[in-house]
Formats: sequence, structure tokens, C-alpha cells
Amino acid sequence: MPRPLFIDTDTASDDAVALIIALTHPDIDVVGISVVAGNVPLDMAVQNALYTRDLCASTVAVHAGEAGPIARPLETGQHVHGHDGMGDLGLELTGRAPSGTHAVDALLAAADAHAGQLELVTLGPLSNIARALQRDPALPDRIARMVIMGAVADHIGNQNPVAEFNMWVDPEAVDVVLNSGLAVEFVGWDISRHYAVIEPDEAAELRGLGTALAEFGVDIQRCVSEFCHTETKLAGFDLPDPIAMCYAIDPAVATETRRLNCRVETTSELTRGMVVMDQLGFTGLEPNAVVVTAADRARFLEMLRSALATTP
Ligand code: BDR
Ligand code: CA
Repeated sequence: MPRPLFIDTDTASDDAVALIIALTHPDIDVVGISVVAGNVPLDMAVQNALYTRDLCASTVAVHAGEAGPIARPLETGQHVHGHDGMGDLGLELTGRAPSGTHAVDALLAAADAHAGQLELVTLGPLSNIARALQRDPALPDRIARMVIMGAVADHIGNQNPVAEFNMWVDPEAVDVVLNSGLAVEFVGWDISRHYAVIEPDEAAELRGLGTALAEFGVDIQRCVSEFCHTETKLAGFDLPDPIAMCYAIDPAVATETRRLNCRVETTSELTRGMVVMDQLGFTGLEPNAVVVTAADRARFLEMLRSALATTP
């Protein structure tokens, strides 16, 4: 039986590849997609999710959610992923209609329908999840696990010196999640930087698979490639959300994990959004998260290749 999975996404270029991986995987039943503002404003992220879903020939419902963080204004990542979030290629990213059900209602309903079985993967800021927890503090009892693309176990950030973008956008939401009792598992940007950088020859090989999904999945990384070259100094473009999705689907993608106490910085401007991972046990607090600390790059690339090779 395919496993029920609910995806929360601020759909831009790497989110789209993560959606493709989940929507084409035989072991996974994507029971809902909720969208949150983050990389791009909400309406754009919704259109990007719908475009990607249609390309995968899926009919899963896409639900619009929160248009901004729970306690501060939205700051997007359009300088990273392009104005439209999808590499500014001129794709037709308008006119598709999401479900009439709000993301928070959809997540709560999916948790009821698949109580104890539902796996949640978040690829953006945690605003929708925090709102769902505020509405229903018993939600964690019905969610089997929550894989978060976010944070950095080595505390080298991509948004400020110590914080990762998704956690930085809405740190108050991260705080709600970390104090909720949800069984969270972090796949941080350090894992992307070390194991999910696609170098130009690998990108060419992937694009050469010749399918519509492969061409789309590589071409939409155009702006992020420039950002990686000039800002994060990577040898290609990295795919944080896809490696998080691959781990969610196949935990063997992680070669090392640790159980750690994690708390988030919400007040300091200098370290805003830093998820402080107590690696040496200074705080004496109980672990509240699993943190992936090493991954299997070959296994990830194999999953990526087989998803992009699919013709839906
Ligand atoms: C994360 O932030 C976004 O830019 C990406 O989509 C990914 O979810 C990486 O820090
Ligand atoms: Ca994302």
C-alpha cells in the first residue's frame, strides 16, 4: 500500500523537483499539497505548484494557505529563484485554480483521514503548520512523522551567517512546531550543500534524459544556479527540497542521524531563525528532533534520475 504523504511547499524551483519526486514515486500516495508564502508570494507559489502538478499528470488537490509569517512581514527569496520562482523562463504560470479548501483545513482533514499514518513533508516556512497546531494542538497525535527541509546542523546559514531561509522567514512558526510534540526530522541546508549539489555535467546528463520532467526540472534552476555561483559559492545548483523529499520517502538516504534538542532564535536580529542544536548536551533538555547529519549522494541522485526520467 502506498504511504499517505502530505506536502507543504512555498513552490519555487527546488520545491518543484521535490514535488516531481513524490508525485512519481510508486510507494507514495500524495494526499494533499498545501502552499505557503516564502520563496515567492503565495499566489505565485500556488501557480507554481499547480503547474508542476499538471506536468506530473496528477490530480491531487493544491490548497492555498498563509500569505505570510505568523508574527512578522513576509520577505521572499525572489533574488534566489527568480521573480516567478521558476527561473524566469517565461513559463505560463497563471490561470490555474487551487482547491477552495484552505491549507490548514486540508491538513487537519488529511490527518483525520489517515490518523497515525500520515507523513508530513515541509519544504517552506512553517506558517501553515503553526496555524494548524494553533487550531488543533492535538494534531501531533495523528501525524506519524514530519520531515522538515530547514535549519543547518553545522550552523552555516544561507540567509544570514547561521540561519537557513525557511527557518529565518518565520521563526515564530518554528518555535510553535518545536514545542508541539510533533515528531520532527530535520534535513538541513548543510545536507544539501554537501550531498545535493548538481554540477554542470550532471545537470546536462539529467537534462539529456529527454523527458519533459527532466528538461523542466533542470531548466527552472537557472536563477538559483547564478545565486549558487555568486553567493553560496557552490559548484553547481543545489537541491535542498529534493534531498529532503528523498529522505522522507527512503530514510536510507540518511547515513547518519542524531537525536538532539533543538530550539529556534526569534528575538535576535543577528541570529534570527537559527535553529540551535544542542550537540554536546549543554542544556540538559530532552531531544525533540531527529537531525540528519550525513547522506548518501549516490542514492539521492538515483532517486532524482528515476523521477525525472518518468513520462507521466
Ligand atoms: C530552502 O529555502 C528555499 O529557498 C528552498 O526552496 C528551500 O526550501 C533552502 O534554504
Ligand atoms: Ca522550498
